[in-house]
Amino acid sequence: MHSERVLSGMRPTGKLHLGHYHGVLKNWVALQNEYPCLFFVADWHALTTHYEETRDIERFTVDMLIDWLAAGIDPEKATLFVQSKVVQHAELHLLLSMMTPLSWLERVPTYRDQQEKLAGRDLTTYGFLGYPLLMSADILVYRADKVPVGEDQIPHIEFTRELARRFNHMYGREPDFEERAKAAAKKMGGKAARCLFELRERFQREGDAAALEEGRALLLEAQSLSKADRERLAGYLEGRGKTILPEPNALLTQASRMPGLDGQKMSKSYGNTISLREDEDSVIQKVRRMPTDPARVRRNDPGDPEKCPVWQLHLVYSDEACREWAQKGCKNAGIGCLECKQPVIDAILAEQGPMRERAQAYIDKPSRVREIIEEGNAKARKLAEECMDDVRRAMGLNYG
Ligand code: TRP
Ligand code: SF4
Repeated sequence: MHSERVLSGMRPTGKLHLGHYHGVLKNWVALQNEYPCLFFVADWHALTTHYEETRDIERFTVDMLIDWLAAGIDPEKATLFVQSKVVQHAELHLLLSMMTPLSWLERVPTYRDQQEKLAGRDLTTYGFLGYPLLMSADILVYRADKVPVGEDQIPHIEFTRELARRFNHMYGREPDFEERAKAAAKKMGGKAARCLFELRERFQREGDAAALEEGRALLLEAQSLSKADRERLAGYLEGRGKTILPEPNALLTQASRMPGLDGQKMSKSYGNTISLREDEDSVIQKVRRMPTDPARVRRNDPGDPEKCPVWQLHLVYSDEACREWAQKGCKNAGIGCLECKQPVIDAILAEQGPMRERAQAYIDKPSRVREIIEEGNAKARKLAEECMDDVRRAMGLNYG
């Protein structure tokens, strides 16, 4: 398990579909085994564009969380929480807003793009302009190292990095840095602490790069250290202050173009989706009704898979042998389209089986979902509060 922290969020849009699964969730499931992960429902973000219709948020939030769990996100491994239940996001957003130049927000590419795309809505609001800043707060408040996002979100990560730099430059070192670093070292245990001080001496006095490396490794191994203390000690070791808000890195999620029922990208707005835990019968009906190569009017007409949306699904779901069978059978009219669709139907149902089962357990026991969220919220709050404590101190707001 790496020690770097992964964080990502998703707006509550209601039930997820297979496009979300193949595009995002599968990746999250893989990440939870390698990194400490935080995944949250970005419910405040939904309000930046949909502030007039807030009635569905709760239901959408719960449905989406169940979909995450169904997809295999494991609450024992990853921390799952709801943004609006961790008010520290709002506090950091507010404090950062004081030092964020308007021009930085106005030039984020999604600002104008989205305003044009969602022309039916009045998005000349403060919340909408500040949306990338809220996202920055989401990330920085956990000092996340890695943020898995799609390409469209990369400018927001870049914005976050610039903002973190600006903050660190402005509020710089912790005032009582030395004492806090020494107190942190004590938490490593006496022997490890002495070793760290020695390595620090060797690096700072003699520029011994190997000592620096050794010191860093020592910090990574020290399980008892909080992230804040580890960062503080890394700064101490290297002779700089503690970076209050470390710059995050984007973890670019490869754009998976999950095809929908009509061959276009699967998307709610195209009405071409299969939901994550769609009824078996409905899956069967939807795939059976999928359009195919228009040239195959009759069973005996040969077809061309390249012109058929079903083939796109074979590319996602079928192995080499099955693909070859479909290719051949289509081109020489050896198989009918319903026959060709069957392995796709089977594969989708097989993929959904365990998801439906996991979801059912939570639907039968909603109290378990609530428990998971509450536990996640509490863990997230604790981490976020650690950061806010440093932020308030750095800004001189830790009085009273
Ligand atoms: N803006 C992201 C989206 O629309 C969701 C999001 C909000 C997010 N805050 C985040 C993603 C923090 C990663 C990290 O998809
Ligand atoms: Fe599409 Fe398969 Fe029919 Fe060919 S045989 S048109 S690939 S469904």
